[in-house]
Amino acid sequence: MANDASAPSIETPTTSETIELLLDRRSVRSIAPDPIPEAQVEAVLRAAFRAPTSSNIQAYSVVVVRDAETRQALSVPTGNQRHVAEAPVFLAYCADLTRIEHALEKHGHTLDDNNFEVGLVSSIDAALVGMSAYLAADSLGLKGVMIGAVRNDPVAIAKILGLPKRVYCVYGMSLGRPAALPEQKPRMDYRAMVHEERYDRDKMKDLLETYDPVLAQHYRETGRETTDDSWTHDMDKKFHPYLRDGLRDALRELGFDFR
Ligand SMILES: Cc1cc2nc3c(=O)[nH]c(=O)nc-3n(C[C@H](O)[C@H](O)[C@H](O)COP(=O)(O)O)c2cc1C
Repeated sequence: MANDASAPSIETPTTSETIELLLDRRSVRSIAPDPIPEAQVEAVLRAAFRAPTSSNIQAYSVVVVRDAETRQALSVPTGNQRHVAEAPVFLAYCADLTRIEHALEKHGHTLDDNNFEVGLVSSIDAALVGMSAYLAADSLGLKGVMIGAVRNDPVAIAKILGLPKRVYCVYGMSLGRPAALPEQKPRMDYRAMVHEERYDRDKMKDLLETYDPVLAQHYRETGRETTDDSWTHDMDKKFHPYLRDGLRDALRELGFDFR
C-alpha cells in the first residue's frame, strides 16, 4: 500500500468538503415556501459568476423570480410542476447574446444569421453558472431542482420573464429550504462513463443491462411506478418520437439561429 501511488494519503487527498457535498447531492422537489434572504441569493450568484466562461464571453444572465404570481405563471409551460410555483425562488438561467451583439455592433458588425457555435457556447455558459450556483446554494443548506421543462415553450417563458431578443432561458432552478429530502437516485456504473485513454464502446451494453434493475428497484422502494427495464424504457419513451421537436424554430424566434 505504501508504494501504491494511486492510494489515498494525506499528500494526495481523495475527499474534501466539496467532494462530500457533491457525493450527497440530489434533486429536491419538496421545498418549504419560506423566503430566502436576498443576501443569500446574491452570495450564491456572485460565487457562481466565477465559473469559467468560454473565451470570457460571459454570455449568460439570470432572472431571479420571487413573485408568487410569476412563479405560478412560469409553472404552466413546465407542465404545471408544483415546485416551480411553490419554491420561494426561481432562478432562470439564460443564454444571453445581447452583450456580444452590442460588441459586434460597436465594431460595425451584426449578429444576424448567427451560427450554432455562439448558441452552443452561450448555453454551456448558462449551464456552468447554474451548476456552480446549485453547489454554492447547497453549501448554505439551500436545495432545489433544475427545470429543463422551460424549453417546452421557450417563447412563453421569454414573454413571462420579459426576455429581449437574443436571450433564452436554457433551464430554471427552483430553490429554497428543503421540506423533505428524497433518497438519492442511483447512478450508472462508473465504468459506463469513464474510459481509459480510448473510448471503449464494447463494455457499454453489459453495464447498461445492470443499471435497469438497479434503477427499477430504487423506483419501487421510493413508491414510483416503473418497469423492470426502467432506464432504457424511460429513455425510449422520452426520445422516441423526438422530444421538443419545435425547439430549434422557437429559439430562432428568440434570436438564436443555431444553423
Ligand atoms: C438541465 C436539467 C433539467 C432538468 N429538468 C427537470 C425538470 O424540469 N423537472 C424536474 O423535476 N427535474 C428536472 N431535472 C432534474 C433531473 O430529473 C435529475 O437531476 C435526475 O433525475 C437525476 O436525479 P438527481 O438529481 O436527484 O440525482 C433536471 C436536471 C437537469 C440537469
